[in-house]
Amino acid sequence: MRIKELLSQMTLAEKIGQMSQVNGGSWNLHQGIREGKVGSVINEVNVETVNELQRVAMEESRLGIPLLIGRDVIHGFKTIFPIPLGQAASWNPKLIKEGARIAAVEASSAGVNWTFAPMIDITRDPRWGRIAESLGEDPYLCGELGAAMVAGFQGDELNGKGAIAACAKHLAGYGAVESGMDYNTVNIPENELRNVYLRPFKKALDAGVATFMSSFSDLNGVPASANEFLMKQVLRKEWDFKGFVVSDWESIKELSVHGFTANDKESALAAVNVGIDMEMASRTYTDHMGALLDEGKVQLQQIDDMVLNILKLKFQLGLFENPYTNPSEFPRLVNAQHLQAAKASAQESCVLLKNDRQTLPLSKQHLNSLAVIGPLADDGYEQMGTWGFDGVSRHSHTCLQALHAQLGDEVEVRWARGIETSRSKNQDEFAQAVQIAQQSDAVLMFVGEESILSGEAHCRADIDLPGHQAELIEQVAATGKPIVLVVLAGRPLTLGRVIDKVDAVLYAWHPGTMAGPAIAELLFGVESPSGKLPVSFPRAVGQIPIYYAKKNTGRPPSHDNITHIDEIDGNAVQTSLGMSSFHLDAGFTPLFPFGFGLSYSQFEYTDIKLSNSHISLGDTLHIYATLRNVGAVEAQEVVQLYIRDLVGNVTRPVKELKGFQKIRLKPGQDQTVNFSLHTDELAFFNQKMQELTEPGDFHVWIGGSSDTELRSEFTIGVDE
Ligand code: NOJ
Repeated sequence: MRIKELLSQMTLAEKIGQMSQVNGGSWNLHQGIREGKVGSVINEVNVETVNELQRVAMEESRLGIPLLIGRDVIHGFKTIFPIPLGQAASWNPKLIKEGARIAAVEASSAGVNWTFAPMIDITRDPRWGRIAESLGEDPYLCGELGAAMVAGFQGDELNGKGAIAACAKHLAGYGAVESGMDYNTVNIPENELRNVYLRPFKKALDAGVATFMSSFSDLNGVPASANEFLMKQVLRKEWDFKGFVVSDWESIKELSVHGFTANDKESALAAVNVGIDMEMASRTYTDHMGALLDEGKVQLQQIDDMVLNILKLKFQLGLFENPYTNPSEFPRLVNAQHLQAAKASAQESCVLLKNDRQTLPLSKQHLNSLAVIGPLADDGYEQMGTWGFDGVSRHSHTCLQALHAQLGDEVEVRWARGIETSRSKNQDEFAQAVQIAQQSDAVLMFVGEESILSGEAHCRADIDLPGHQAELIEQVAATGKPIVLVVLAGRPLTLGRVIDKVDAVLYAWHPGTMAGPAIAELLFGVESPSGKLPVSFPRAVGQIPIYYAKKNTGRPPSHDNITHIDEIDGNAVQTSLGMSSFHLDAGFTPLFPFGFGLSYSQFEYTDIKLSNSHISLGDTLHIYATLRNVGAVEAQEVVQLYIRDLVGNVTRPVKELKGFQKIRLKPGQDQTVNFSLHTDELAFFNQKMQELTEPGDFHVWIGGSSDTELRSEFTIGVDE
């Protein structure tokens, strides 16, 4: 009621003000707030300034409406956690929720009350720089982990201490930009959109996310910020979303750049008509809404509804009662507990991709000396990753520092950067790196990408290791010393050129503040790697998009019906070879599949069993398997449940993730894992866009990767 009362007192200008988000550094910000022309401020994180802005809003504006203070708190505020793609590799919703909670608490202490996260754009294209900010290729995994982030940011109550409003972004399809190039065009058939891209957004909604952000990109010819289907039909009508939608940065103004509208006024009209409640950064609402109302093109009721959505969130956050922030009421930034959580997250994010002859873990007892090489071994800034925005390099614990701390005098550590940056083509430092490798018992190489090579607007057409890092690896490998490659990167890289030159590969993404201690402990076996890939690793860029939940096609490839280019005879006449779907030079499999990741132990899966092999619609099926740690060390395993719906009104993927559990077992220990699956969880959108579970035959797998083969079968019967 209070909101309606407030609304009834507002002038049109004040209403439009609530719908405007202004950049923190703007010259006339105070005046704008005083005049009621600003509803939200983005990018102001100095707590004194934020408090002063809130004071002006509360005391000097006519109606005393507090401000939403928005910031991209994406993977930590001051304590930087792994990039979201790295966090997704942990497959650990509890850890991810905790990371978001800590980010929220730290950001709250600076007066931030709204974050633009989680980003839950499904992406199957590692060229896209924003894959770093995503939770990977799979709608189920992304949905579960995105919901965990929402819960972490928002807490139990939005007005609780340290809770901030979350924003599910970018609605929708942004992860499918053509050629993985940021801001590019997106075309996704409605069926695919609903079955894949929209699923995580629906889960975020069910998790209670306060806001959504419209994407920069166009979708099937209509830019998201004016897309009636997305914003009205799906979000408001079908999903009954009651919160508010913010545009992306100037994405309303850019409607005319897309060629969808002729000018700013038309852009404002188009965005209001689909219910984009708040405009980020650009000023088309401020400049044109009055005229649009006068001309009868926009109705006052539309404006009122949007303003109500915004005011409601301000009430829910408790800002009317207390808009001010007293940092001393919050735990210290970057405190020991936050660092511990960041370390746990970084550790569980690392994926062991290769470990020949059990090169890892290294053992202090068996090493006299260790060569540490690479541009990312001792760079506190680069390890933070793309949204290290508020992070500070000096808080970072680097890998070199952690190795020194861990090994002390027991192992001699020799260090050479080898190459100035990840992009450098200068080989002047190579000789020194080769020399210390020759002098040492083993080599650790920290290579990958600087943080600037991924993230918004940082896309790559070639996703090999940049610069001359591969050349450096080749020269070090020529020494014959055992080499462990630790890759710090914002995306899956194509590792084909180097993978056979090294003995082990630990993929660490950009691990954040605590990269060093997390990785050093893994390298020396204090803990076993337990991460699994949230995205497939291509062998070559030309395989993109490559993902496990592909369709079977009419001509599925197998190892028996493909030919490699090198196997074709010199004067071969034109043939259809194996007549299946593959590349002559790259086959059909990824270098590493979704869900894959090694451990220092080995896990055995046996005895897959079902509660019933014939069920009816509405039933819940239980699927069991025995997981046994048959290796020598205690470790965690991510147990994954996949299904295939064999026949569908629209073709179904060859595998779909439907559940996962992270389980810790001691050597020799076993456990029966139990998944339950309600038939509703097998529903998909059919040709008529109805979401239905179809009776019929299904395959079900339990295993430690998407290429698991431990399978059973069940049937959903047709009700009489
Ligand atoms: C543009 C990005 O696309 C979006 O994700 C971000 O939240 C806004 N800028 C605000 O910085």
